[in-house]
Amino acid sequence: IQTDIPPLKDTVPFTLGAAVERAQTLGEHARLLTRHYGSITTGNSLKWDATEPREGEFTFTEADHLVGYATEHGLKVRGHTLAWHSQTPDWVFKDGDRDLSASAADKALLLRRLEDHVRTLVTRYRGKIDSWDVVNEVVDENRPDGMRRSPWFLITGHDFIRTAFRAARAADPGATLVLNDYNTEFPRKRKAVYDLVKKLRAEGVPVDAVGHQLHVNIEQPPAAEIEKTIETFARLGVRQQVTELDVSVYPDFVSSYDTVPAEVLLRQGYRYKEIFDVFRRQAAGLSSVTLWGLADDDTWLSSFPITRLNPPLPFDDELQAKPAYWGIADPARLA
Ligand code: G3I
Repeated sequence: IQTDIPPLKDTVPFTLGAAVERAQTLGEHARLLTRHYGSITTGNSLKWDATEPREGEFTFTEADHLVGYATEHGLKVRGHTLAWHSQTPDWVFKDGDRDLSASAADKALLLRRLEDHVRTLVTRYRGKIDSWDVVNEVVDENRPDGMRRSPWFLITGHDFIRTAFRAARAADPGATLVLNDYNTEFPRKRKAVYDLVKKLRAEGVPVDAVGHQLHVNIEQPPAAEIEKTIETFARLGVRQQVTELDVSVYPDFVSSYDTVPAEVLLRQGYRYKEIFDVFRRQAAGLSSVTLWGLADDDTWLSSFPITRLNPPLPFDDELQAKPAYWGIADPARLA
């Protein structure tokens, strides 16, 4: 890796993190990680399918490795995620072969499973995980009540959110508890997430922070909308984190390059610059910014929504700094 460029984390006034798996804690990747980042998020290894594949049978091999690595190297850890509709085993929403219904008994069963799961994970890493994405992607702005029709919601209503936050608070009173979602920079989604967070906090549910995933692309959404989102939630008095930032080089879901033109990578660099300009201006309301990956050799965007070359991060697939890096670290070096 390059040792003659400034550590990215030293160029910003908030904690800078990257989502990782075990592979990013080995060899050159590990050197890149510890040089440039102050925090990690567990990409997949704390999700329900990874930690409790069968009821009451917990596996923590990957998560223990990541948390151990972080502790040894002075990195903070964000735990991702306690309740989500995806990457959750089927048994969670079943009683034997039968799907759980919204009956009182089924609801109680599901909430008990959730409470056990949250207590087990959060207790295991008490004092070691700084922030937890307690619930992930629960909002659907196209519903009159703003709530995604996940099994969680269909069976328990809003109670799974209340239970998850309260159980997490009880298990580690020191952890920052986050409600995490995507597209919060779009006006209707912003409003739906805002209304939910406001309602929950008014009830005393311990939602400490809002997580903005910020999976954006080279053109959309406008930086001004990102700024408006951070300003809006700051007025609510809730803490904020950017939790999953990356910048797709495509403005749509179908294009694909064989080789990404240098001019596109440069535009991506300017896009990172304008986004980090917003973060720096809004740093008072923003405690951390996490990129969804370490380098372009391993990113979810190379398989979503189609398989295509899509380098969205500050370091290329040979771990070298790109214009995206300079857009964050020193925009004067772009061009
Ligand atoms: O674990 C299996 C493995 O056993 C199997 O051999 C392999 C073959 O495909 O798949 C492995 O599972 C994959 C898993 O990542 C672990 O690598 C899944 O297929 C794949 O779908 C899964 O993708 C993850 C995705 O969430 C699932 O929704 C991505 O890595 C992860 O980066 C992505 O992260 C999400 C956040 O959690 C929430 N916000 C959006 C973000 C991007 O989609």
